[in-house]
Amino acid sequence: MSGTVAVLGAGTMGAGIAQACAAAGHRVLLHDISDEARQRGVAAVHSSLERFVSRGKLEQAEAEAVLARLQPVSDLGQLGEAETVIEAVPENLNIKEAVWRDAAAAADPQALLATNTSSLSVTQIASFTGGSEERFCGLHFFNPVPMLPLVEVVRGQLTSAETIERAVAFTEGIGKTPITCNDTPGFIVNRLLIPYMSDAIHALAEGVGSPEDIDRAMKLGANMPLGPLALCDLVGLDVALAAAESLHAEFQDPKFRIPPLLRRMVQAGKLGRKTGSGFYDYGKEG
Ligand SMILES: NC(=O)c1ccc[n+]([C@@H]2O[C@H](COP(=O)([O-])OP(=O)(O)OC[C@H]3O[C@@H](n4cnc5c(N)ncnc54)[C@H](O)[C@@H]3O)[C@@H](O)[C@H]2O)c1
Repeated sequence: MSGTVAVLGAGTMGAGIAQACAAAGHRVLLHDISDEARQRGVAAVHSSLERFVSRGKLEQAEAEAVLARLQPVSDLGQLGEAETVIEAVPENLNIKEAVWRDAAAAADPQALLATNTSSLSVTQIASFTGGSEERFCGLHFFNPVPMLPLVEVVRGQLTSAETIERAVAFTEGIGKTPITCNDTPGFIVNRLLIPYMSDAIHALAEGVGSPEDIDRAMKLGANMPLGPLALCDLVGLDVALAAAESLHAEFQDPKFRIPPLLRRMVQAGKLGRKTGSGFYDYGKEG
């Protein structure tokens, strides 16, 4: 696999996407706003690769080759070298607008342009590219990117069929499994997953069962690998609440109603595993 990929934003998702692309043989330009942020992204890729090496899943030489394909860049001027541009900056429309106004102008006019947004409108983000809407789509990766195979390839209102074909081929080329979907709130995974977790929280608040019983019920009765409340602790209650709020606001449908208990727990700082406490106690942080 060859071809240069530019990744905008070197945080949790940007670093993971950069790693997946470099591991598949792409040269990767990794852009972020500060040298510190770029270095943090490279360090995250480095330690993830080291974990693969220590588990015997990757040769040391291959890990070094992957890292060598990663190039931190400060100047968007270099974007013209990329065939594919994937944006993973914070989930904030103003930031995405500022980034895409500059990035679309700097990118090769033939490049595939994609956003990793989870909950914003792909169609709206495409409008910030000023005329490149046809070659713009969503590429929604899942965290942690090196481990999770799915990518939702999201068709905006103006995305061309050719762009979706290119995006699917690109995704398969980096060893991921794409599904295609239209640009509707939550795409497929969050549209189904968030109400499922919310219903489990409503059931808990109504006293239907304990967290252990609710989770055990879904694990042993529905063959889920993880119960919905343990899953919510893993995702982060703040992240789940933000996604629930977005679905509720966009669909305006009571089936997406937000559990008051979820909001109270977030207000109390009980965010799940990352704070050491959520629906379960984890003893200490992490
Ligand atoms: N974290 C997840 O589980 C997850 C999963 C799927 C999709 N997403 C989506 O991925 C995107 C990124 O999320 P994240 O969790 O990686 O966020 P993050 O906060 O970890 O990383 C964002 C990065 O963008 C950088 N940034 C900020 N402004 C920038 C700019 N103007 N130009 C370049 N870089 C800039 C920040 O310095 C930071 O390094 C969001 O749209 C989010 O909704 C997140």
